[in-house]
Amino acid sequence: MRRLSHDLRPRVLDDLGLSSALEALCHNFSERTGIATHLEYAAFKARPKAEASTALYRVAREALNNVERHAGASSVSITLLSPKGRVQMIIEDDGKGFAGQSGMGGLGLRNMQERMAHFGGLLLIQTSPAGTRLQASLPKTASLPPAPLSEVA
Ligand SMILES: Nc1ncnc2c1ncn2[C@@H]1O[C@H](COP(=O)(O)OP(=O)(O)OP(=O)(O)O)[C@@H](O)[C@H]1O
Ligand SMILES: [Mg+2]
Repeated sequence: MRRLSHDLRPRVLDDLGLSSALEALCHNFSERTGIATHLEYAAFKARPKAEASTALYRVAREALNNVERHAGASSVSITLLSPKGRVQMIIEDDGKGFAGQSGMGGLGLRNMQERMAHFGGLLLIQTSPAGTRLQASLPKTASLPPAPLSEVA
């Protein structure tokens, strides 16, 4: 049961938040696969709601699985951005791209797309022989409102 609930919502998300959870994910991925990871979130100001954070974390995990299994990449970067209060997560690898595969054969990409659609967001996929770029976007409604100034000060 504990393992099940762990999988439903990794504890590190509750304890540390999305950016730290992604740091741990990237660290473990690099250790295990030897593929370099780079995580960038300095410009990330949004506060995605708990369920939206979980969805983004799962998208990142599934995307890294795909990089390991299909890309033949030497590095992958994850960037969190918050243009106009929306949430954007970009995952980019330097592998060989889909190489003629439609990308529609498996469940991974479809799950990612559905996870984002659930919050009114979307997943864009760009792929070429120089690599693959996934852009997951969520609307403002998937985030908590900005903290009032009195809390920030
Ligand atoms: N980063 C990537 N680099 C190269 N090819 C990729 C990448 N991500 C996905 N693909 C291609 O797209 C296909 C579909 O990916 P998807 O995750 O949906 O399914 P899968 O990984 O084959 O199976 P699973 O259902 O276990 O995820 C892959 O089989 C692969 O051909
Ligand atoms: Mg997959």
